[in-house]
Parts: sequence; structure tokens; C-alpha cells
Amino acid sequence: MRILVTGGAGFIGSHVAEIYLRAGHEVWIVDDLSTGKPTNVPSDAHFVQADITDAAVRRLLIDERIEVVNHHAAQMDVRRSVADPLFDARVNILGLLNILEGVRQAQCQRVIFASSGGTVYGEQNAFPATEDHTTRPISPYGVSKLAGERYLYFYQREHGIPSLSLRYANVYGPRQDPHGEAGVVAIFTQRLLAGETITINGDGQQTRDYVFVDDVAQANLAALTADYSGAINIGTGLETTVNTLAEHLQRITGSRDQAYYGAAKPGEQRRSVLSWSRAAGTLNWKPLVSLADGLEKTVASLRTSV
Ligand SMILES: NC(=O)c1ccc[n+]([C@@H]2O[C@H](COP(=O)([O-])OP(=O)(O)OC[C@H]3O[C@@H](n4cnc5c(N)ncnc54)[C@H](O)[C@@H]3O)[C@@H](O)[C@H]2O)c1
Repeated sequence: MRILVTGGAGFIGSHVAEIYLRAGHEVWIVDDLSTGKPTNVPSDAHFVQADITDAAVRRLLIDERIEVVNHHAAQMDVRRSVADPLFDARVNILGLLNILEGVRQAQCQRVIFASSGGTVYGEQNAFPATEDHTTRPISPYGVSKLAGERYLYFYQREHGIPSLSLRYANVYGPRQDPHGEAGVVAIFTQRLLAGETITINGDGQQTRDYVFVDDVAQANLAALTADYSGAINIGTGLETTVNTLAEHLQRITGSRDQAYYGAAKPGEQRRSVLSWSRAAGTLNWKPLVSLADGLEKTVASLRTSV
């Protein structure tokens, strides 16, 4: 297939591009390199540096006869979305709409969208959350991801374009940017490897569902041919506290320093964990990499890059 991966110079998108290339597909990457890096772009992919809100991206879809769009480019900083919701909407909503208009004009066969199971549900009242859980996002970022899913539904109904929204849990693994504000695994690992103390916000009992990036890439591969349209959680169903995550990383890095406890982040979600039973049924997918193994691999890769 001829596939466009937006955001393919970023953390998750570059792994997705790689798994597509390994499966024999032809891959184009559009990325403005705002957080992505040229070194993340696989050498076999065609790379176009462009903003997803630019008309040039629509033309690319037509000119290159793209069949599938895998949309990973996004403003993905939750705190920035709170501080600047207009910027978040420009990239995450108008950027997606620009792509979808191109998809319609180019008559692409399918769209795969990187959504966010960690934010679209908001504060959960059932654990783990299934896709039918109420959606009450508590950040503009979560709102823009949910809006993206709604637009995809509209394009499917109105224009017959099938789409899958993969609602990721907290993705971690090699190439995650430790300098950004997302990615607690990368931030902790980088500090521990530099011999610095890590700071846990609040009591550290808040939970997240950590899914390894190779498993996420595998879900994107299955999504190319799945006979399904709609939202699918991609998580492990396992809740891990920040305290437990920190202990794992201290053990793996050999750090003996105690973590420092800082003030809780205002508005931070307390618990987040996703059921992957729909992914099992629709994508024949399950998480294969345990947290301990995934963290070992992540630390090993950051050791060589820090
Ligand atoms: N990391 C996670 O845990 C997680 C969880 C849920 C959803 N997601 C989603 O997965 C996707 C990838 O996230 P990531 O963690 O790899 O982040 P990332 O920042 O590494 O990747 C995003 C990529 O998009 C590019 N980009 C940003 N704005 C752009 C624009 N206007 N035009 C073109 N390119 C642009 C960036 O340069 C970057 O390469 C995002 O859509 C994000 O919302 C990530």
C-alpha cells in the first residue's frame, strides 16, 4: 500500500513508519519537525517537511496516490493545550480537517488516527475503561482528540471513508523525547541516568496504563486491514502507580537516590487504565511486552542516546 504517516519524525510515528516499511509498504512522512527529529525518519521513507495545516499536504495525497493516511502529527502537550487552546485546536482540529479534505479529494481508502485513551474519558468511573465509557475530557487536548474522532465519524458517514481511532494509553519506549513535558518514563530515565533526583508530583499513587511502543506499532499494522471503523483502546489493562514506575526505573538504572515528592499537579487525573478487549476482537491484538521488559529496553536505548 501507499501510506502517508503524518508525524513520522516523532516518537510513535517513526515506529509506525518502520513497521509499515518492514511489511513491504511504501511510506511517505509529513512532519514539520516542531518536536520530531530528522534522525527518526527511516531512510527508506519519502520525507516531506510540511505543516499539516498546509494545502501542500492535500496536494501530496492526490499527487502520490496515497491509499491510507496514518495521522500521528499533533500538538500533544496537555499543559500547552490548557495555556493555549487556540494553538491546540489549530494543529489538532484544523490540521486533521485539512488532512481529511485531502483524503476525500484523493479518495483514500482509510484513515488511522492516533487518539488518546488517557484523556478522552476524563476522570474514569470504571476500571479499566472500555470504549463505551463516558467521554468527558478535562483538557483542550482531550477535547481536540475527541473532536477528531467525531469528524472521522462524519467523513465515514458522509463520504464513506472508513477510519480507526486508536485510543492510546501512556505510550513509552525508545525515541521518546525526554525534554518534552509528556513522557514520564523518558523524563525519569534521563534524570536517573544523569545521576539526578527525580521529582514525583503529589503522593505518587496516581496510576497510568503504560503500553510499549512496539505493541502500539503492531496495532497500527493490524489497523491497515481490520474490518472495523470506530474507536479502539490500545492499552494493557494494568494500572501502575508513579511510585511503582519510579521503583522499576531506579532498579534498572542502579540509582540509589530517593525520589523527591513535589506538589501535586492541579487538575491531574487520578487513575487511568484501558481495557483492550475490543482490540483483541477487531485487530487480533494484545499487549505482548511487559512493563519490566519494556522499561529495560527503553533505558538501554536512552543510555546510548543521552
Ligand atoms: N505519547 C503518548 O503516550 C500518546 C498517547 C496518546 C496519543 N498520542 C498521540 O500520538 C501521536 C504521536 O505522539 P508522540 O508521543 O509520538 O509525539 P511526538 O511529539 O514525538 O510526535 C508528534 C510529531 O508530530 C509533528 N508535528 C507536530 N505538529 C505538526 C504540524 N503542525 N505539522 C506537521 N507535523 C507536526 C512533530 O514534529 C512530531 O514529529 C500524537 O497524535 C499524540 O497525540 C500519544
